[in-house]
Amino acid sequence: MKKRIGILTSGGDCPGLNCVIRAVVSHATRTYDWEVVGIPYATQGLLERKTVPLSIHGWDLRGIDPLLNMGGTILGSINKGDTLAHADEILAGYKAIALNALIIVGGDGSLNIIHQLAVLGNWNLIAIPKTIDHDIAFTERSIGFDTAINTIVDAINRLIFTAASHDRVMIIEVMGRSAGHLALHSGIAGGADVILIPEVPYTIQGICHHLTELRDCWQKKFAIIVVAEGISVCAEDADNPSICTTAKCGQGQYIAEKIANCSNHLIDTRVSVLGHIQRGGIPSALDRLTATMFGKVAVDLIAQNQYDQMLAWQNGKVVTFPIQDVIDKNPSLVNPQGDLVQTARSLGIYIGD
Ligand code: F6P
Repeated sequence: MKKRIGILTSGGDCPGLNCVIRAVVSHATRTYDWEVVGIPYATQGLLERKTVPLSIHGWDLRGIDPLLNMGGTILGSINKGDTLAHADEILAGYKAIALNALIIVGGDGSLNIIHQLAVLGNWNLIAIPKTIDHDIAFTERSIGFDTAINTIVDAINRLIFTAASHDRVMIIEVMGRSAGHLALHSGIAGGADVILIPEVPYTIQGICHHLTELRDCWQKKFAIIVVAEGISVCAEDADNPSICTTAKCGQGQYIAEKIANCSNHLIDTRVSVLGHIQRGGIPSALDRLTATMFGKVAVDLIAQNQYDQMLAWQNGKVVTFPIQDVIDKNPSLVNPQGDLVQTARSLGIYIGD
């Protein structure tokens, strides 16, 4: 039977989304001769009953296929929390669009919301994990994470030289919501001296002691500190709520102020908040490869009429898990006793007491 399948990208964008679209369209049309439509702006497109025809020749630019190395998503995306309030209109829209199956490329929030809609509407759903936060359960890879780490490491590579030239402590605040994967991976790969993540408690005293030791014992007068945006900033200031309020302007800034105070302003700090730069750029080779393999397997699952599954990368292979099992286990956080944390400590990085 000739199928008509849909694909949408939901939640915060990241590099590699267009590679999935490319792989899905290529495999579905070349191998199975199906029709593929994109749903613009995720559930918003369903609600408005909008589709975009996708064909392997549709984006061809004088023989060059730009989707492989284009960041963002050509379908657009939304990151709103009120989707379920419009469930009836979205379900009606899905019916009107008349799809045999839908592939969603999303993070844990989108997975949860769209899975609820799929159950209500009896949709044939396949999910592909994407997020720079890398906080989706069961998968060793999520699209966008590798590129984001490389972006952060590139920033650290640049900041190290200016830090060293001025004997400064450079604080780099990175994304990740409640998970510290981005900070931990990039901090180790970038040669940070301190890595602060939500999963491992730290003390300001511990950080300052480490910086002093670097200077006095190792003659290292500059330092790189990677701070995850999700770290707790109130633990040490529970009695002083005004400090916690100030910290809302940024975790990196908070840490900088505390280091300045504990060193009697002898340590000169500067803060770089990398922000959405981490979500931009050209996808890395690894993200392209993962996205392409996920896209291919998603189409094969639809051919086998196997639905309600999320694709995951485990032990060098693409495997599947029931979407509900993934939702029940999310978010996947850093294991404070895990190998990466131990490796950081073995390198002399301060990562909590
Ligand atoms: O989940 C991805 C992410 O980039 C987080 O790391 C970050 O906290 C959040 O999205 C930012 O969201 P927005 O694009 O809505 O600012």
